[in-house]
Amino acid sequence: MSKVTVVGAGNVGATAANVMAIREIADEVVMIDIKEGVSEGKAMDMMQTANLLDMNTRIKGVTNDYAATAGSDVVVITSGIPRKPGMTREELIGVNAGIVKQVTESVLKYSPDAVIVCVSNPMDTMTYLIHKVSGLPKNRIIGMGGALDSSRFKYYLSQALGANPNEVEGMVIGGHGDTTMIPLKRFATLRGVPVCNWLSCEQLDKVAADTMVGGATLTKLLGTSAWYAPGAAAAEVVEAVIHDQDAVIPCSALLEGEYGHSDLCIGVPCVLGKGGIKRIIELPLNDEEKELFAKSAEAVHKTNAALPC
Ligand code: LAC
Repeated sequence: MSKVTVVGAGNVGATAANVMAIREIADEVVMIDIKEGVSEGKAMDMMQTANLLDMNTRIKGVTNDYAATAGSDVVVITSGIPRKPGMTREELIGVNAGIVKQVTESVLKYSPDAVIVCVSNPMDTMTYLIHKVSGLPKNRIIGMGGALDSSRFKYYLSQALGANPNEVEGMVIGGHGDTTMIPLKRFATLRGVPVCNWLSCEQLDKVAADTMVGGATLTKLLGTSAWYAPGAAAAEVVEAVIHDQDAVIPCSALLEGEYGHSDLCIGVPCVLGKGGIKRIIELPLNDEEKELFAKSAEAVHKTNAALPC
């Protein structure tokens, strides 16, 4: 029996739960929210698709009842306020830090062995906060941002190439911020062949720039933060853990010397499987990429310094 809890049944949390259920990533998915009726209603709505979709996952929704989340293998934290058009993710720190701290303590009371997947923004700093609050082994805390940013990178690459997004590979490392993301243009491929065989430097620079503001572009269009890709990216991370996939996914991980940095969570390629982050992969970055990473790390440290606790 595998069980996943999603804290926060807003757009991102509900989408993550729905994707996990439809793909049958876990046997049971519990959604918990502070708003009376929201989790219950969304869970019931999703369960009414069970026979339509031949779906065997059991989805449950509760309000504030952490006892219902007990024994979860993975807990996805999406709680907090999303950004509005024109806002940066970093501006959410004041409100979201308090919420994420309280949620972390509550979920661990009932699921002390869970792997935690952090989605709340500013994501790298919230992931770092979960480390500080929980004292869990570092492998059990995963920040989801790089999975999402890499998927957006692959989307923009596929558009530029006129290719199927599933034929494209690419990774985004660094912070999950409009100016801190590092789409790794040099390592992007179409079926293993470097994309620079088809795309000019200018085209690749545009793909990278579009990727970096991918979330902001959607926030402008939607009036709030995006949810389909963020939810699916969280589900992808959960699937890698629950199914012990050894999947290589860029995620925000606590660095202890890797990439020459320490005492922060930032996006790096991780091998994800049972227990969470099994290994961090150190890429052979060139000087330019190393410099971008150092700048990104500096910005994430700066946001961490603004944590109220
Ligand atoms: C985004 C939010 C979830 O990038 O950070 O859409």
